Amino acid sequence: MGGNTFGTLFRITTFGESHGRALGVTIDGCPAGIPLSEFTVQRELDRRRPGAHGARGGDAKLNPAVTARKEADEVEILSGIFEGKTTGTSIAMIVRNTNQQSADYGDIARKFRPGHADYPFFEKYGIRDYRGGGRSSGRETIGRVAAGAVAKAFLETLGIRALAWTSEAVGIACGTFDEAEIERNPMRACDAEAAQAMQKRVIELKAAGDSGGGIISCRVSGNIPAGLGEPVFDKLDAELAYAVLSVGAIKGIEFGAGFQAARLTGSENNDPMRANPAGGKPSFLSNNAGGILGGLSTGAEILFRAAVKPVSSISREQLTVDLEGRDCGISVHGRHDVCLCPRIVPVVEAMTNLVLADMILRNRASRA
Ligand SMILES: Cc1cc2nc3c(=O)[nH]c(=O)nc-3n(C[C@H](O)[C@H](O)[C@H](O)COP(=O)(O)O)c2cc1C
Repeated sequence: MGGNTFGTLFRITTFGESHGRALGVTIDGCPAGIPLSEFTVQRELDRRRPGAHGARGGDAKLNPAVTARKEADEVEILSGIFEGKTTGTSIAMIVRNTNQQSADYGDIARKFRPGHADYPFFEKYGIRDYRGGGRSSGRETIGRVAAGAVAKAFLETLGIRALAWTSEAVGIACGTFDEAEIERNPMRACDAEAAQAMQKRVIELKAAGDSGGGIISCRVSGNIPAGLGEPVFDKLDAELAYAVLSVGAIKGIEFGAGFQAARLTGSENNDPMRANPAGGKPSFLSNNAGGILGGLSTGAEILFRAAVKPVSSISREQLTVDLEGRDCGISVHGRHDVCLCPRIVPVVEAMTNLVLADMILRNRASRA
């Protein structure tokens, strides 16, 4: 299977299946001297774990003074760190699978789950790894999130920050934006009231054996230099779209005004520019471009939204076929979220951080 490597200079390769011995990532090209510890990586992995929304799971690991408990998804950094800093050599990290529960998947061993990757994976490789989706499982994102934590630590040294949140889920849209609210509610929504309504709807969907989708918004702010991105094929928006669309269950992405731009006039859509009286970089009076023009960052905040489909694994009976090609019914049981948005929020942040780290390093070769 190809396609496990992402990035040009800040380059990651992920490995591992949901029910194998371990999942992990190696990072090549991470600059030396970035402050990094297992706590930094664990904090992001804890946000990705099922049921670890709001008050983050694994608090013991956020604070080295507290005794760390043995928990699922515990990262081990195997190389590339010395005395709390990256050394410039390749960084390898693994998370051992300790909670596989293969028995949960007995019913689907010989049936293809509608909406999941089972059927095309079987056609492509001729092997049915039914133990939770193998490489197409959400656990595959562990390596991305671990690597994203390293990219995030690099970006922090430059004063750049990516923040993602649920802006819509299970048919309910947020009406206000409160950043402090995002990690407080289980939906990772930016509006407390909408989050309540989402949770109510999630309970209804669960009772009906069904699931729902949503929209994740992402904003990059801070010291974003103008000019990040590599025209023509590796434009910043193209790379972000590639990164974000490679995450399971994400089905669309739009930057700034996005699809709505198709309905605006040029004068409405253009972001007017103003000089900076203090002599610095000019500013933009609006941001329909989402901070990217010509595939290059403008220095304005980078804004995009990603569409997340409803989780395919639902207990409601559905029509499918089995390995022998016979019609049958399927009802998927086990531990499945009703809406994936809160779990995908940290994954979107991770992919955004990886693209930015790579683009910053590549940008250093742009001028003599
Ligand atoms: C963090 C994360 C967790 C996921 N958990 C589940 C899950 O519990 N059940 C499920 O059916 N799909 C889950 N998915 C989505 C599947 O991985 C995805 O739908 C599947 O690979 C098919 O790919 P596609 O939806 O991109 O076409 C998860 C995805 C992510 C990123």
